[in-house]
Amino acid sequence: MKAPVRVAVTGAAGQIGYSLLFRIASGDMLGPDQPVILQLLEVPPAMDAVQGVMMELDDCAFPLLAGLQASDQAEEAFKDADYILLVGAKPRGPGMERKDLLEANAAIFSVQGKAMNAVASRDVRVLAVGNPANTNALIAQRNAPDLDPRCFTAMTRLDHNRALAQLANRTGTHVTDIQKLTVWGNHSATQYPDISHAVVDGKAASDLVDQAWLEESFIPTVQQRGAAIIKARGQSSAASAASAAIDHMRDWTLGTPEGDWVSMAIPSDGSYGIAEGIIYSFPVRCSGGRYEIVQDLSIDDFSRERMSATEQELVEERDAVQHLLP
Ligand code: NAI
Repeated sequence: MKAPVRVAVTGAAGQIGYSLLFRIASGDMLGPDQPVILQLLEVPPAMDAVQGVMMELDDCAFPLLAGLQASDQAEEAFKDADYILLVGAKPRGPGMERKDLLEANAAIFSVQGKAMNAVASRDVRVLAVGNPANTNALIAQRNAPDLDPRCFTAMTRLDHNRALAQLANRTGTHVTDIQKLTVWGNHSATQYPDISHAVVDGKAASDLVDQAWLEESFIPTVQQRGAAIIKARGQSSAASAASAAIDHMRDWTLGTPEGDWVSMAIPSDGSYGIAEGIIYSFPVRCSGGRYEIVQDLSIDDFSRERMSATEQELVEERDAVQHLLP
């Protein structure tokens, strides 16, 4: 058995936290031979609720759970953390504009970025789930100048998984029959789920579906899936978001399957002409605990237009919080 690693999770008493923590502790994220110490962060009013979650974690008697603690101080929760899942965020309140939401979260993520800069492991892997996830990751990153900028990622894996499910349904196949699908850009309604390089059961996906379905059904369904779930369930997606966070961290750490790639929002290095520095979702392959952008994919006009629209939104988000970026 390996030595335990420290996994910090913010928003631990929330909906996603309730689906996520038990899967981390059971080994779904880092494998069946990797013990974990969970370090939970919540706001003071939620500390009672966190105690309840901790009681339940104890009661699962997970063989891999090597330690469990909670705090309302980021520097305690992030101490020596090897993995940090930033789930806690301020939800959009009534009458709140996108800009207000950006600013409210910028305050949270700048404090948390500074805390991880001070106390987290130098090889920490950070995943922002709380929305606006891409820009929250950017804010944390810019407030943590002593950490490698590449430690900071945001989650578009839920969008990627949603796209896999839609394409599998349409083509009468299983998600495991599909490779090389990409979600580009922001985790928002401007994201671009792209099947132009996808392969279904060994055949080009674009030969199996028509353009009308792609434009009128597939892309808007994936883009609007979060809203459809809120409408149906009365609450935002939580178990699927937790599952995607597990997938993101697992693949980053343990590697992507041979012959395939996944979508991760990572600091743009200018690949595909995307503005450098923004946290943009690219196709990536992971191995040895590192991610690399898949290069040299052909980009047609249809894709380019959509990749640019979502890039533009991220540039605007960055500009809206510029005064908060050190
Ligand atoms: P929730 O409201 O049930 O839980 C959020 C928790 O975060 C609450 O317990 C709250 O007390 C806590 N929190 C707030 N500020 C905090 C802070 N400064 N430090 C620590 N904890 C703090 O929300 P839920 O459903 O768990 O969603 C969490 C976030 O994830 C939301 O921002 C949501 O929009 C986002 N989300 C992102 C997805 C993605 O694909 N990237 C998918 C689904 C949700």
